[in-house]
Amino acid sequence: MTGSEATFGTSTHKGLLLAVDEVNKAGGVNGKMLELISLDDQGKAEEAATAVTKLVTQDKVVAILGEVASSRSMAMAPIAQQYKVPMITPASTNPKVTEMGDYVFRVCFIDPFQGTVMAKFAKDNLKAKKVAILRDVKSDYSMGLSEFFVQSFKAGGGTIIETQSYSSGDIDFKSQLTSIKAKKPDAIFVPGYYTEVGLIVRQAKELKMDIPLLGGDGWDSPKLYEIGGEALNGNYFSNHYSSDDQNPLVQDFISKYKAANGGEVPDTMAVLGYDALYVLVDSMKRAKSLNGPDLRDAIASTKNFQAVTGNITLDEKRNPTKAAVVLKVDGGKYNFVGTISP
Ligand code: PHE
Repeated sequence: MTGSEATFGTSTHKGLLLAVDEVNKAGGVNGKMLELISLDDQGKAEEAATAVTKLVTQDKVVAILGEVASSRSMAMAPIAQQYKVPMITPASTNPKVTEMGDYVFRVCFIDPFQGTVMAKFAKDNLKAKKVAILRDVKSDYSMGLSEFFVQSFKAGGGTIIETQSYSSGDIDFKSQLTSIKAKKPDAIFVPGYYTEVGLIVRQAKELKMDIPLLGGDGWDSPKLYEIGGEALNGNYFSNHYSSDDQNPLVQDFISKYKAANGGEVPDTMAVLGYDALYVLVDSMKRAKSLNGPDLRDAIASTKNFQAVTGNITLDEKRNPTKAAVVLKVDGGKYNFVGTISP
């Protein structure tokens, strides 16, 4: 909830608060009220590990929701697994997260799919043949997603003409962008988080690079446009949901969220947090007991659960199969371009 990806935490938290409030107002779970204990890891993997240890050993929580960024979830997962306390990450898309153990689940799609979505979009919709990559070497999410994009783009006959790197926290990307510009790509794939992406997009404009920049869910934040400004217009990213989706389930969620949060439109993290809580509650209702192994089994058997971001059936690897949307940034709005199903 603080640190360079603070909106990931604050939005997830708002989604969770809304869901917990609804569940408790409707009588709780099997007659008991839910209590949400929220800890801030400041966006640091070591802090995420410390936080989960405290939640399990001192607070004796029934389940853990989080983290959202993949590297941080990977720091938490072995601890949840060791203590046999089920963990559901709302938003971590790196495949390795749920591979860490059978107590670790997610309610979002994974990056082999997300990478394919953007590789196909670059090839089919933007007619891009040569793409450059600018990725964050400190982030498992960024490294994984770039790898899956590259595999898929090459398999479709495209060429990756340049790969450049940065590290989370960097603020100057001009030398990487200058090298990329010299190779004359048709587009640049930047699978990063919004703080660096906003700066990258701005600096690309300053270098007069008039090609689209593409990214993944890590772009989604109300802060992206604050940082990147008008330079962001005309760029695209994949995401878990679009607020333009006219599905009544989505619109109903948006109105409830706005009413609870001063008119603010929920971002993707808020929706995924909300969905994660409801998947947990559904499992708690079905579980034989709320001890770790019983609750784990109930979560693992989640089938066709109607969530706001799509129906959730968890497979044997504890991942759902869900569609992605592609959004185009325009004047501070993230406009719906299309839905891509697996
Ligand atoms: N998918 C990102 C990760 O795994 C987290 C994320 C999800 C960021 C949704 C923004 C929106 O690290």
